[in-house]
Amino acid sequence: MKELETVRDWVQSSKQTVILTGAGMSTESGIPDFRSSSGWWKNIDPHTVAHITALENNYDLFHEFYSMRLSTLDSCEPHDGHFILADWEKRGLVHTIATQNVDGFHAKAGNQIIAELHGSIQNFRCHQCESQATREAFLNKEKCLNCGGKLRPNVVLFGESLPENSWMKALNAIREAELVIVIGTSLEVYPVNQLPTMTKGKTVFINKDITSNANGFDLVIEGKAKEILTNINLLLTH
Ligand code: NAD
Ligand code: APR
Repeated sequence: MKELETVRDWVQSSKQTVILTGAGMSTESGIPDFRSSSGWWKNIDPHTVAHITALENNYDLFHEFYSMRLSTLDSCEPHDGHFILADWEKRGLVHTIATQNVDGFHAKAGNQIIAELHGSIQNFRCHQCESQATREAFLNKEKCLNCGGKLRPNVVLFGESLPENSWMKALNAIREAELVIVIGTSLEVYPVNQLPTMTKGKTVFINKDITSNANGFDLVIEGKAKEILTNINLLLTH
C-alpha cells in the first residue's frame, strides 16, 4: 500500500506524466500478450508471422496470423484500467500515452494524446503503394485496387522502423516528463525499451512478471495493471 501512496503522491505533484504501455495493459481485456506463459510467441515464432519477410515471402501465414488477431479483438473491450488513464488525462494528471499496443484501446477508452509506437491493427494499407485499404478488403485477401499489391494492417513489423512522428511524440514527452509510469511490458523490444532511460523524471514499473529489465526504475510494483490502477485511483480520489 505504501508503494501505491507514493505513486499517488508522484502523480499528483508531477507537472508532466507519461504512461508507457505494452501488451500487459490489454490482457485483462482478453487479448493475449506475447512473451508471458499465455502469450502469442509461446507457440508461434514471431519472425515467421510478424516480420517484414513473412509479409513478403509467406503472405498466407502473415494474413492468417493478423486475421486471427483481428477476430480476437472483435470480442474484447477496454477495461477499467484503460478508462482510469483516460480519466487521468481529463483531470490533467496524464500528459501523453505512449503505447506499443496496436489494439486502439487507449483511444477507445477516451485518451486523446497517444503515440502508437507500433502502429495500429485497426487500419490497413497497400504494402507496395501505401494506398489506404478497408478491413474487409484485407480480411478477404483482396489485392490493392490501385496497384494490385498486398494489403496489410498498419502495424510495425519486426525489422521495420517505428513511425517517426509517433517516436518523436513519445520521446519529446518523456524527455520533458517529471514522471514516467511503465505498465504491462517485458521491455524486451528495441527501441521502445530504451524510452524509460531517456527521462530525467521519476520512473515507475508496474508489471505482472518482474525481470532484470526492471532494474533502474525508482519504483517497481509487481501485479496486474487493472487492479493496481484501480487502487491508485481510489487513493487519488480521496
Ligand atoms: P531486432 O532484434 O531485429 O533489432 C532491431 C535493430 O535494433 C537491430 O539493428 C538491433 O541490432 C538493434 N537493437 C536491438 N536491441 C537493441 C538495443 N537494446 N540497443 C541498441 N540497438 C538494439 O529488432 P526487432 O525485434 O526485429 O525489431 C526491429 C524493429 O521492429 C524495431 O524498430 C522494433 O521496434 C520494431 N518492432 C519490433 C517488434 C518486435 O516484436 N520485436 C514489434 C513491432 C515493431
Ligand atoms: N498486468 C500487468 N502486467 C501484465 C499483465 C497484467 N494484467 N498481463 C501481462 N503482463 C506483463 C507480462 O508479465 C509481460 O512482462 O506484460 C508483459 C507483456 O510483455 P510482452 O508480451 O513482451 O509484450 P510487449 O512488451 O508489449 O511486447 C513488445 O513485441 O512482439 C512485439 O509488437 C509486439 O508491441 C509488441 C512488442
